[in-house]
Amino acid sequence: MLSSPIFYPCSQMKDYETFLPLEVVTAKGSMIELKSGAKVIDAISSWWCKSLGHGHPRLQRALVRQMEKFEHVILANTVNPTILALSEKLSQLTSSLSKVFFASEGSSAIEIAMKMSLHARKIQGDNHRHLFVALENGYHGETVGAMSVSDLGLYRDPYSPLLFESRSISSLPYVNHIQDPLWLDCQTHWQMIEKQLTPLRDKITAIIVEPILQGAGGMQIYSQDLLRRLRAWTRKHTIHLIADEIMTGIGRTGKMLACHHADIEPDFLCLAKGLTSGWLPLSAVVLPASIYEIFYDDYSSGKSFLHSHTHSGNALAASVALETLKIMEEENICDQVNETGKVMLRYMQEIANKTQRLTNVRGIGAMVAADLISDDPKRRLGFEVYQKAVELGALLRPLGNTIYWLPPLNIDEVTLMRLKDITERAILLT
Ligand SMILES: Cc1ncc(COP(=O)(O)O)c(C=O)c1O
Repeated sequence: MLSSPIFYPCSQMKDYETFLPLEVVTAKGSMIELKSGAKVIDAISSWWCKSLGHGHPRLQRALVRQMEKFEHVILANTVNPTILALSEKLSQLTSSLSKVFFASEGSSAIEIAMKMSLHARKIQGDNHRHLFVALENGYHGETVGAMSVSDLGLYRDPYSPLLFESRSISSLPYVNHIQDPLWLDCQTHWQMIEKQLTPLRDKITAIIVEPILQGAGGMQIYSQDLLRRLRAWTRKHTIHLIADEIMTGIGRTGKMLACHHADIEPDFLCLAKGLTSGWLPLSAVVLPASIYEIFYDDYSSGKSFLHSHTHSGNALAASVALETLKIMEEENICDQVNETGKVMLRYMQEIANKTQRLTNVRGIGAMVAADLISDDPKRRLGFEVYQKAVELGALLRPLGNTIYWLPPLNIDEVTLMRLKDITERAILLT
């Protein structure tokens, strides 16, 4: 039995007996430096959040500037220039979402969007719409509400007595890249999807999606046309669309928001992770004034949205988020992502050709993935590759047998080439 006092997240603790935790001393850019002196590439941006890499000097300075003023003051009943500027910047991400509600983790943002959708219906006297619909293979977090609309049994099954009923839509038009004809037109899939939605249309309060890229469900990309059609269908039936951009938002797919691939805007936009470039926990729900106004009345009307988290709008986190958004703009990070993404996709395809052990190579923006070919379903092949890659100098952390790279958006070419080499060797040595 392991003697460490730490109960690690999303891990089987027994694995640590032979696969020891890496002792981190420092981290810079895309690299994590270990006590042993080894340097390891953070190929998954530390759970998809370190979008501008580790220790970015501008983010560090922004944090220090804020720290010298104050670190945290309750957000209810107060305001400060940082949170105001951040809210303004977030409201400029879309043309229709102008109000921002802050929380800490991504999962909390999901809970908030769902609560707001339901609460708004109740205030409006619409008591029939309380069903949430999600996409098959979707993932929205680990809290009870977020799990209830997630479709991954691995994470949710042990807690099924706690979860509320939701529906998930199947027959998604998955693509491997945006050149696939399905990317532009998914009419045939849509017909099957619409058939599933139509009988539920008067019961649904909101449809929740990870726009374009489903992360925990195995890094699957689906047609932008589905998002476009879903937006039109939800508008027609006055159903809210919740865009969970917790992983995809702030540049990951090559646009500031993945919704922009379909030229649509949701009713609730949920952001976290890359919002602070993974420096501090901060999440946000951005919504239109029309929904905000539903809650706006005299206190005695009982319409207030009485949801709070202690660190809602934490000033240190807000200062880093504000600077992250400025860097994204000033350094044209989305353009860089599109260039880097092409190289990443080519590299993964080359590994697939060379090793003959990968299938289904796919990518969008700064994310590329492929599935390990395995003839033994009991073998934890992804885990074996993971261990080998760490030994060789890259933190990969596959999802089952899906290998993926989701590095800092500003990863340099040399590091990317090294990542390719390590991944290839790790596969060949397993
Ligand atoms: C799409 C998506 N939604 C929600 C979450 C939950 O965010 P958090 O872990 O910050 O609660 C995640 C986390 O991986 C995610 O990928």
